[in-house]
Amino acid sequence: MIQSEHLPQCHKNLCCKGIASDADFQPTVANIAYKLARDAYFNWFMSNDESRYFQILKPMDALIKPGTLTVVLSRPGAGCSTLLKTLAAQTYGFKVDPNSKISYDGLTPKEIHDHYRGEVVYCAETEAHIAQLTVGQTLEFAALLRTPQNRPAGVSREEYARHMTEVYMATYGLSHTVNTKVGDKFIRSVSGGERKRVSLTEVSLCGSNVQCWDNATRGLDAATALEFVKALKTSAMVLDMTPLIAIYQCSQDAYDLFDNVILLYEGYQIYYGSATLAKSYFERMGWFCPDRQTTADFLTSITLPDERAANPGCEHRVPNTPKEFYDYWRGSKEYSELVNSIDSHISYSENNNMRTDFILDADQDFDDEKLLEIQR
Ligand SMILES: Nc1ncnc2c1ncn2[C@@H]1O[C@H](COP(=O)(O)OP(=O)(O)O)[C@@H](O)[C@H]1O
Ligand SMILES: [Mg+2]
Repeated sequence: MIQSEHLPQCHKNLCCKGIASDADFQPTVANIAYKLARDAYFNWFMSNDESRYFQILKPMDALIKPGTLTVVLSRPGAGCSTLLKTLAAQTYGFKVDPNSKISYDGLTPKEIHDHYRGEVVYCAETEAHIAQLTVGQTLEFAALLRTPQNRPAGVSREEYARHMTEVYMATYGLSHTVNTKVGDKFIRSVSGGERKRVSLTEVSLCGSNVQCWDNATRGLDAATALEFVKALKTSAMVLDMTPLIAIYQCSQDAYDLFDNVILLYEGYQIYYGSATLAKSYFERMGWFCPDRQTTADFLTSITLPDERAANPGCEHRVPNTPKEFYDYWRGSKEYSELVNSIDSHISYSENNNMRTDFILDADQDFDDEKLLEIQR
């Protein structure tokens, strides 16, 4: 069992590869034998052939501490879904480089995948629900799966699950849909925004430690999106959870709630660190942020050659290509500080078997000084 309620996540040199095939075909009765034989040949004899792979994520590092809220910013196609899936140990369809170091409080992704599936979840951009079930049934089932063994005296499993479902449905504004079918493209039922909120409620009911939300605010209006980020911030602070969210349209109010930001540019991580310092990092690099532009838009615009603007006189000094941004980041003092804290975190978790021993009070600050102090 994980005794600690906290699950810090850290990764070093995390790379992911996808198979770079130009074309594929649907297997039919006539060609399935050929397709299986071809796939088997490639998997057995050509698995080490690098030309078959396309590097989706270039080496990236981060230390995501419990109780912090992290936002992943990028343009579509830069690799944020791949990053979130990798961090949630759901790597079906692509390969994680064997040299990548990923640690969840000392646990490996394989251990998470095999034994602690519920502790690390990935909430996909598009929903997959059983269309014929009602919202109430869907959520109550999720709540029943996560009912704790130790409940207040006299409260049965069903009562506990029903109560939790009602509380979460009220929180996400779904109480009126309790008897409406979840539906899908073919069965008319709750609206798209409501269906998104059903998924959010389902993941929240799971109460997992590491939660990866892919484009979670799609289909939500600005006020609900902000409410949702606030709810995650509260759960991070109160329950010491570790939520990561990919957002494409992030308002300034929502951005101000985030502790850390990961900025991706065509598969390269060009910044990871404090959300409040991100703007000054790029301004120091030589970029200009217009007065009324939100920080999230400014950061995303850095990855768009047509939208970014350098300060006068800095045009020839600023990086241009994703690789140049990446090299700049790897040479920065923020990066070397990050690598030092990742190294001390990894060596501490390996030497001290954090899964059983590492229990910090919720109000204790999990910072580097504390880590060094504990090490001493
Ligand atoms: N399994 C895969 N095999 C090959 N290429 C992939 C695979 N998965 C994603 N890609 C490519 O990697 C890039 C990033 O994909 P993705 O992580 O889905 O981006 P995002 O979520 O940021 O839009 C895209 O160019 C996509 O085509
Ligand atoms: Mg995506």
